[in-house]
Amino acid sequence: MPERPYHIEVMISAKAIAARIEALSKEIRRAYKDTDKLVVVGLLRGSFVFIADLVRELEMNVEVDFLEASSYGNATESSREVKILKDLRGPIEGRDVLVVEDIVDTGHTLSAVLKLLKSRNPRKLETIALLDKPARREVDLKATWTGFEIPDAFVVGYGIDFAQANRNLPYIGSVVFEDEAKGSEA
Ligand code: IMP
Repeated sequence: MPERPYHIEVMISAKAIAARIEALSKEIRRAYKDTDKLVVVGLLRGSFVFIADLVRELEMNVEVDFLEASSYGNATESSREVKILKDLRGPIEGRDVLVVEDIVDTGHTLSAVLKLLKSRNPRKLETIALLDKPARREVDLKATWTGFEIPDAFVVGYGIDFAQANRNLPYIGSVVFEDEAKGSEA
């Protein structure tokens, strides 16, 4: 299939992301002030840049673990199957856990992951999402902390990909397809 040409427009700058992470880290530190060691769980692969910046800003004792989930289905299906492709390495029973997600879109992925982790009886289980697209939600769910609410656009960068490209952009950009951009000018 020929590649559909597109360009990327900056939506959230690297500076704005850093400032937001600094503010969120203060709130998280306060919420977990009685925690000896926080288990920070990154959802692969999109959260890898966010989790790296977040744990360095948190300035508390943390363990880092990763989980990879994949949701199958298309936009016309109201329920989706979420498969665990890579599970946590460590137990979380009785532990204080923070799940780190890149984007909450329909909400199916985070909802399934939380159901699974709750069944393992953590002491405290909270979530942080860098981005939230509330307009696309199919499951009633909101992360405990959200970096930025964004409109229904396809975004890339800061760990987030489009067909496995653009994860290494230092900012969040929106993908603008050339045919749509031309169409909107008419
Ligand atoms: P959900 O289950 O629909 O909430 O899907 C969440 C996952 O879909 C995110 O963790 C991303 O991996 C992916 N996703 C959702 N929106 C975008 C986007 O705009 N760009 C790239 N990936 C996205």
